[in-house]
Amino acid sequence: MNRNREARGISFAVSVFVWSIQLAKQASSNLIEIAASDRVFVLTGAGISAESGLRTFRDSNGLWAGYQVETVATPEGWDANPELVWQFYSQRRREAKASQPNPAHCALAELEKRIGARFFLCTQNVDDLHERAGSRNLVHMHGELFRSRCEADCGAPIIEDSHSYNSLHEMPTCVCGSRLRPNIVWFGEIPMEMTRIQHEIDRCSILLVVGTSGAVHPAASFVHWAKVRRGIPARTYYVGPEEPLNAGAFTRIILGKAGEVLPQLFKTT
Ligand code: OAD
Ligand code: ZN
Repeated sequence: MNRNREARGISFAVSVFVWSIQLAKQASSNLIEIAASDRVFVLTGAGISAESGLRTFRDSNGLWAGYQVETVATPEGWDANPELVWQFYSQRRREAKASQPNPAHCALAELEKRIGARFFLCTQNVDDLHERAGSRNLVHMHGELFRSRCEADCGAPIIEDSHSYNSLHEMPTCVCGSRLRPNIVWFGEIPMEMTRIQHEIDRCSILLVVGTSGAVHPAASFVHWAKVRRGIPARTYYVGPEEPLNAGAFTRIILGKAGEVLPQLFKTT
């Protein structure tokens, strides 16, 4: 009787031990180890701001739902109906102002503090949540929501602008008399800072992509660029609740919400 109880006790202890090893293994397999020689390139998409309450583009209730992309995010849409375009981006300005950075934005800012200039962030997002979390070494390849520029490219500087414009007579004008447009990269236009982005991809050893569906190029190709460049291919990781369209190109896919995964993700040595 006693011996049975003792045996059951031992087998329970062994199970707990095996279970904790399995848990530890799971936890460590979700770590990205960053050595002193590593350079980290991070690409983020709409998914990283989802937990801040900002809608993504391709969800069923996403940003394009209710809007046709061509009417609010192309030069042709702007020419046809600038009022509608400004209404769309004014609404996005209001939503972005009302939101706060979430733990995923903060985890990236924290990583930058730890590894300094070896960290580079490229976001497709036009909100300013990365900056508000403390990220500094970053580019907005699809432009910035809180800036406006001359539609005629007259040479006047891009201006900081957080206003809402809801009707034709409210629409802002440049010093040259042309209209001001949102400083956003629309479909058919060339993303910003591509030379710098290409340079950073060429020299990174770790490429981490967070919360983007892999549907829009060139951003969806970065994971390939980091592999086919000269020298050793980068280690490539994706974080998001579902696999992106370009999932097959990554070294590892980590399924989960950015705000839950990123704060636990990095191990710096
Ligand atoms: P999408 O809407 O295409 O994709 C959002 C991704 O975020 C999806 O893959 C989701 O699975 C993922 N996601 C959702 N919640 C998440 C969470 N909590 N944590 C992590 N991931 C999450 O948005 P993008 O891929 O960013 O361009 O779209 C790319 C570009 O298309 C945008 O920059 C925009 C759009 O057209 C322009 O406006 C020029
Ligand atoms: Zn002008």
